[in-house]
Amino acid sequence: MDHSMIDKLGRPLRDLRISVTDRCNFRCRYCMPAEIFDKDFKFLPKKEILSFEEITRLSTILAKRAGIQKLRITGGEPLMRHEVSRLIAMLNQIEEIDDIAMTTNGSLLPLHAKKLKEAGLKRVTISLDSLDDEKFRYINGRDVGVNKVLEGIEAAEDAGLGVKMNMVVKRGMNEDDILPMARYFKGTNVILRYIEYMDVGNANGWKLNHVVSKKEIFSMINEEMPIEPVNPNYTGEVANRFKFKENGHEIGIISSVTDAFCSTCSRARLSADGKLVTCLFASDGHDLRDVLRSGASDDEVAKHIQYIWENRDDQYSAERLKHTDKKQIKKIEMSHIGG
Ligand code: GTP
Ligand code: 5AD
Ligand code: SF4
Ligand code: SF4
Repeated sequence: MDHSMIDKLGRPLRDLRISVTDRCNFRCRYCMPAEIFDKDFKFLPKKEILSFEEITRLSTILAKRAGIQKLRITGGEPLMRHEVSRLIAMLNQIEEIDDIAMTTNGSLLPLHAKKLKEAGLKRVTISLDSLDDEKFRYINGRDVGVNKVLEGIEAAEDAGLGVKMNMVVKRGMNEDDILPMARYFKGTNVILRYIEYMDVGNANGWKLNHVVSKKEIFSMINEEMPIEPVNPNYTGEVANRFKFKENGHEIGIISSVTDAFCSTCSRARLSADGKLVTCLFASDGHDLRDVLRSGASDDEVAKHIQYIWENRDDQYSAERLKHTDKKQIKKIEMSHIGG
């Protein structure tokens, strides 16, 4: 039986990204600027956050009835959620799920990597925007040193987790770090991906001229350390993959701004408070928490999600340049849906 749910643009639902908390121990200036996310900021209260049982139930329904095989746990910072490895163990029981990954800032991995691996986590993607200690302390807004993240990488590798790195490139912030990062990770087992700075949310003051394009990033690296393209691992992979000619090690570039990948976007996002978000740039999500808490059957929940997905026509990045001169529309913050 074919379980696929197909949206209005012919895209199946394949991949669920689950945000487990809107809190973070960092205050990256492009994501949760400390002036806005200060001590008076109202984070979600506990009762509004989906329980592990609710998340597992939704994931099970989507795995069994929509054919989802891949889950990614995000935040905020997912390791801020108490006992998140218990959730991983619960999700790992779902037969149809064959890949569980997590996006994290890495700082808490030394405490958690082993437990996460034992619970069934396969991979982590760790964010690091600079190897320059002073600059990194400034960017993360919490004076956390580069070493903390490097220790996190080491802990993940020691635990046997696959590791990728994400580096958001913002002009004026860290374009000088593109080459040092490539040089450093070229000689490791870690796959580094550069991300074009995106206009997610409304808090980060994004401007088009902040974007360092895929083309520019490619040229900078290629000039010093020749790289060549590699085929995608799967349809709809967000990163363009390359390998260093010298040693075959992989590196990637994620170009949501200058070369959007909406036409193959099969990702749904679940916010910590139980909203199904059909695009990273959506103004709002579709509430599932009330549906779950109102006693709906699995069938009813599945039908509700099917309706949402079948009406999906988002392709924000592909249409972005049409939006930039207009008044800003309201968008969900990155810390709410985890990227
Ligand atoms: P794997 O291929 O499973 O390793 O994961 P991935 O490359 O999808 O991983 P990850 O979640 O780390 O994605 C990397 C970054 O790409 C995210 O943090 C976002 O910044 C960006 N990204 C991921 N999905 C989307 C998307 O659907 N739309 C846009 N515009 N950006 C995305
Ligand atoms: N543009 C691109 N990437 C971003 N991230 C956070 N905000 C942005 C943005 N505006 C990245 C984080 C992390 C991942 C979840 O998304 O650095 O690697
Ligand atoms: Fe930084 Fe990630 Fe936390 Fe945002 S969620 S402030 S990008 S560490
Ligand atoms: Fe998918 Fe929206 Fe990102 Fe396009 S902009 S790839 S539709 S999440």
